[in-house]
Amino acid sequence: MEKMIVKPVSEMCGSVKISGSKNATLPILMASILSGDKCTFTNVPDLWDVSTTLKLLSDIGAQVERSGHKVTIDSEEVNHLEAPYELVKTMRASVLVMGPLLARFNQAKVSLPGGCAIGARPVDQHIKGLQKLGAVIDISHGYIKARAKRLRGARIVFDMPTVGGTENVVMAAVLAEGVSVLENCALEPEVVDLMDMLNAMGAKISGQGTSTVVIEGVDSLKPLKYEIIPDRIEAGTLMCAAALTGGDVLLEGARADHLSAVIDKLREMGVTVEEKENGLRVARKERLQPIKISTGPYPGFPTDMQAQFCVLAAVADGQSKITETIFENRYMHVAELQRMGADIVIDGRTAHIKGVKKLQGAQVMATDLRASASLILAGLVAEGYTDVLRIYHLDRGYEKLEKKLRKLGANIRRMPGGKH
Ligand code: EPZ
Repeated sequence: MEKMIVKPVSEMCGSVKISGSKNATLPILMASILSGDKCTFTNVPDLWDVSTTLKLLSDIGAQVERSGHKVTIDSEEVNHLEAPYELVKTMRASVLVMGPLLARFNQAKVSLPGGCAIGARPVDQHIKGLQKLGAVIDISHGYIKARAKRLRGARIVFDMPTVGGTENVVMAAVLAEGVSVLENCALEPEVVDLMDMLNAMGAKISGQGTSTVVIEGVDSLKPLKYEIIPDRIEAGTLMCAAALTGGDVLLEGARADHLSAVIDKLREMGVTVEEKENGLRVARKERLQPIKISTGPYPGFPTDMQAQFCVLAAVADGQSKITETIFENRYMHVAELQRMGADIVIDGRTAHIKGVKKLQGAQVMATDLRASASLILAGLVAEGYTDVLRIYHLDRGYEKLEKKLRKLGANIRRMPGGKH
């Protein structure tokens, strides 16, 4: 398995282009099934979870082509209405194929996504919403089997704002008969991007970006050409790299309106963040100040940025407190950061972090996507080398992160092989 070797860097400077959003791409590619025709997507990031999604789509019978950041999907001949365990276990977001298959074919068979490193991550809200739309759902032998005569509009109130749950139910409701009212929806930009794309296909969705979304079912949706929004979590991760090293960087394409909570916290820590016409400028001259953060649903502080801010807090000038409210096991990066000399005490869902002068380079193990990014960030400011093992986790959700970091002056390279 590959690893990353990271050496400390004094300051990072320069500019880099932010890739398309992973978490917008996955549901949008699934939604292309609804057209039964050829859709074209641009600014599609080149990363493992996108490859897995394209494999799923071709396994169910779609014609898939990718060249660079452009993807075309012709779903006319989709005929195998199943997402098997061996695929869903590698990417739980495969469950997002359920809504579109049900909407178009009135049936779907999808492996129950098991737990994952960061938590149980149930899909009960997806199932509840589809049942409200008239799907009859049988869960047995590790599979969700869904059938419907024809989906009918309904009123659905989610127990909590769920990104995937909102996306799955919206993709089912757009072709249902009648009007659906969805309450307590997720507000994430990726959810809004999906709804905007569906409306561009001829769906009748209103209220996107608010907690109440109204969908008037239509008979069919047309194919389209669509550009994916930039990845706010990749942008946030690179902002943390600049904040950590005291550099001055420009992140082309990064959108301030998608990152308000992250920008506020960086500014509180003494980091300069400037909105430019072509992206975000991030710089730091003063010592990092400690911070208090509690993750929450958008527009709250994103859970996907929690691990990265643990690193900022680990070298800040005082005592910080970070509480993870979304997932029950999202502190696996902490044990690895402690091996690098970080002073972190976990108490339930809260990490109490006392800043140290310097982290020490070490061999560390990536456990999940954002944890692997945080270990690389730590390596940028640690004394000596840091080897980050099992970086296949990183490649699931970042497009060539080491190339982007090198462009900004980091000393980082990928090493093949090794049994670790
Ligand atoms: C999406 O996951 C993202 N993944 C995650 O990003 C992100 O961390 C998460 O939203 C929260 O923002 C994609 O978009 C592909 P949820 P999702 O449903 O949809 C509970 C990354 O690093 N819940 O919003 O699975 C759930 O347990 C990944 O890019 C239920 O209880 O998240 C969690 O506590 C990691 N029942 C909370 O809701 C359900 O049916 C939010 O989960 C669904 C969710």
